[in-house]
Order: sequence, then C-alpha cells, then structure tokens
Amino acid sequence: MERTFAIIKPDAFAAGNAGKILARIYAEGFKVVGLKKLYLSKVEAEGFYHVHKARPFFGELTDFMCSGPCIVMVLEAPDAIKKWRDLMGATNPAQAEPGTLRKEFGSSIGENATHGSDAPETAAFEIPYFFAGLELL
Ligand code: RTP
Ligand code: MG
Repeated sequence: MERTFAIIKPDAFAAGNAGKILARIYAEGFKVVGLKKLYLSKVEAEGFYHVHKARPFFGELTDFMCSGPCIVMVLEAPDAIKKWRDLMGATNPAQAEPGTLRKEFGSSIGENATHGSDAPETAAFEIPYFFAGLELL
C-alpha cells in the first residue's frame, strides 16, 4: 500500500465539482484516509509550492491556490502516487487524455482542478504539511 497527497483545487471546488471528483476517487478504488476543506493563506500556498519558487508562474499559482476554499486529501492504494497522477491526467487540461480529471474539470494549465504528489519524497513532505498523524488513523 502507498499513500499520496491530493487537492481538489479552488476552481473545481467553486464550480461544485468536488462531489464528482470524490466519486471518481472511490470508483477507482482509493481509500480516503484523510480529507478536509481549507482556505489557504498566501503564505501557506507559498510554503506548499516552495519547489516552484523560482518559476515565472509562482505568483499566479499561489494566488490561485488561495483564491477560494479547496479540499486536501490523503489517498491510499497500491501504487497510489502513479495511480492518482494517471487519473488526474496531464498538467495542461488541453493535453490531458479523455476520461482524466483534468480533461473533464480543468480549464487551463493554471486552473487544472487537482493536485497530486509526483514522487514518494514529495508525498512525504506534502502529507504532514496538512495532516497530523492523528487525522490519518
Ligand atoms: P500539481 O503540482 O499542481 O499537481 O501539478 P503538476 O505536478 O502536474 O505540475 P507542476 O509542474 O508541479 O506545476 C504546479 C502547478 O503550477 C501550474 N503551472 N503553471 N503557467 C505555466 O506554465 C504553469 N506551469 C505549471 C499548474 O497549475 C500546475 O498544476
Ligand atoms: Mg507538481
């Protein structure tokens, strides 16, 4: 079993798509180990995406992530990191495969509906950034 960290981003939450995305998560066989709604501050969004600090889109990305509430989750499944990245699809919804979450719910490279950890080391930072051990029992 593996755990990954996932976000239903502010665009998808505001559009009322959180329920449909959760339904897909369950249908694909993930166990939802942790789940909460948050309204990130700019500082919290910057800390979360610190690896992208030097990128030209960092300001836009962090403004977007604190533009409204989101849902943060810990998902568990065999090979969960890859399985969730595959279900999300490509970063740019225009390039995402049909049937993926970003194809269905994303509208642009910036507003792309979901986030997922991209490696075990990333999940190891991202999960405890948002969840205490007691919240993941
Ligand atoms: P995420 O971290 O959100 O799951 O997305 P990702 O791994 O597929 O993509 P990543 O390279 O980590 O980029 C993080 C987020 O930054 C935004 N982005 N904008 N304007 C641009 O060229 C650009 N490139 C990336 C996207 O919203 C992406 O999800
Ligand atoms: Mg990423």
